[in-house]
Amino acid sequence: MKRIAVYPGSFDPLTLGHVNIIMRGREIFDKLIVAVSSTIAKDYLFTISERVEIIKDVFKKNNAKIEVDFFEGLLIDYLHRKGASSILRGIRTVSDFEYEYQMALANKKLDESVETVFMMTEGEYSYLSSTVIKEIFKFGGDVSNMVPKAVVSYLVKKLK
Ligand code: COA
Repeated sequence: MKRIAVYPGSFDPLTLGHVNIIMRGREIFDKLIVAVSSTIAKDYLFTISERVEIIKDVFKKNNAKIEVDFFEGLLIDYLHRKGASSILRGIRTVSDFEYEYQMALANKKLDESVETVFMMTEGEYSYLSSTVIKEIFKFGGDVSNMVPKAVVSYLVKKLK
């Protein structure tokens, strides 16, 4: 049986911290679906299709075992549609833990057969978040060592 995992997130935009989780995650699954969530609770900079396009662009030459997609509604329903059995999540700091723990338990309640697999984001990326990137970039700071090269171009197009 193929081990398919979904790595969900808002990815607004993709950072090197996310890339780190994706690269390591794909080593332990047969297929890793990077799924952009369309939850409307956040005020996004990039549209869903732009966020999907950015991730596809970043992985265009390095896409073995990686699929990029988006989903609406419950993550568990999306997993069922894709025949996936695991959720991959990165944990950066202790403060991520409580939220992740709650989400993993909620998903487990919805489907007991689904496992959430956590990876510690490598230390050098543990301070990163999409909001930090957007803030630094908006005020003229250098984000080139925080996001993939392609993401810098998308930020320039969007914000300059
Ligand atoms: N490196 C860098 N940054 C990271 C990171 C990493 N490895 N992992 C997370 N982040 C950052 C993100 O950039 C994001 O930053 P921001 O808040 O500044 O935008 C933040 O951490 C959290 O983002 P993310 O991992 O994308 O989570 P989220 O809270 O936006 O989305 C979903 C979580 C989409 C997985 C969740 O809401 C979901 O499953 N929704 C579907 C509805 C559902 O099924 N709900 C029931 C389950 S409880």
